[in-house]
Amino acid sequence: MKRIGLLTSGGDAPGMNAAIRAVVRTAIYFGMEVYGIERGYSGLIEDKMMSMEMRSVSDIVQRGGTLLRTARCLEMLTTEGQKKAVSTLEKHGIEGLVVIGGDGSFRGAKALTESFGIPTIGIPGTIDNDLQYTDYTLGFDTAVNTCLEIINKLRDTMNSHERISVVEVMGRHCGDIALYAGITSGAEIIVVPEIAYDMDDIIMRINRSRSSGKHSNIIVVAEGATNSEAFAKQLQELTTYSVRATNIGHVQRGGSPTMADRMLAAQFGNKAVRLLKDGIGNRVVGIHNNEIIDMDIIEAVSMKKHFNYELYETLQMISM
Ligand code: F6P
Repeated sequence: MKRIGLLTSGGDAPGMNAAIRAVVRTAIYFGMEVYGIERGYSGLIEDKMMSMEMRSVSDIVQRGGTLLRTARCLEMLTTEGQKKAVSTLEKHGIEGLVVIGGDGSFRGAKALTESFGIPTIGIPGTIDNDLQYTDYTLGFDTAVNTCLEIINKLRDTMNSHERISVVEVMGRHCGDIALYAGITSGAEIIVVPEIAYDMDDIIMRINRSRSSGKHSNIIVVAEGATNSEAFAKQLQELTTYSVRATNIGHVQRGGSPTMADRMLAAQFGNKAVRLLKDGIGNRVVGIHNNEIIDMDIIEAVSMKKHFNYELYETLQMISM
């Protein structure tokens, strides 16, 4: 394979730039050319691309966001959009494609592979950690660390005022950001989309912590489970505690990637290009039990994400 394309798609995630760098540099190492496609599948459909050189990816390993920019492209879900994407690839003689993105982005990659035979490799780049086949997605570690920084600050002021803080983190269908941020920040309670919550039980747990000497409480809620403002208002009405809501929002999508995310980016990007070089397409890369793996893209997107109930129980046992 002599020429490959590269795009980032869906919500951006810290570490995408580091993965772009790894893909470009590995491809150049193997004598391949790389075309960077702007604004995800929209740029592929509209033929917006640039040739990438060794120095195109200098000074980006530490930067959040994505230098290729990104978009959520509904047209890519249609056969017509997919045909336009394929004709752009053909026009430029691009023989294989690396897609960095989440579940929705992988579906576009799957269509290119399945219906048009374009060798495509997916790199899981999303803060959500919502893909079952990989233990971690790129950006998740940084996003959770950003949440931790904010929760630490909230704990200081909540303690001083003996308040309850309801902190909303991202995750529409997957509670992993809430689960990991909750357990590692010492939050007393998490509310996730995977488990229905019981307000009486939450109040009972808060009361119990207060009678054992706690001065504040942190409740981390995932956006897909409830809204922090509404939840805080309900809690305020049902108790005598002072309750405040904070929505972390898009802050958790930006920032310099952590060591863990930069390492994943290096390994995922390198592996993706090695697969294409060996003529292997139709795969996604990931990490499982500390090993970099690859898997059939169709199988990967059909897997349902499992919630880690053991970690949830651990939080309940140690966070009182
Ligand atoms: O998929 C990543 C994500 O950050 C989700 O956690 C969140 O629900 C969504 O994107 C927000 O999307 P947008 O940036 O388009 O508002």
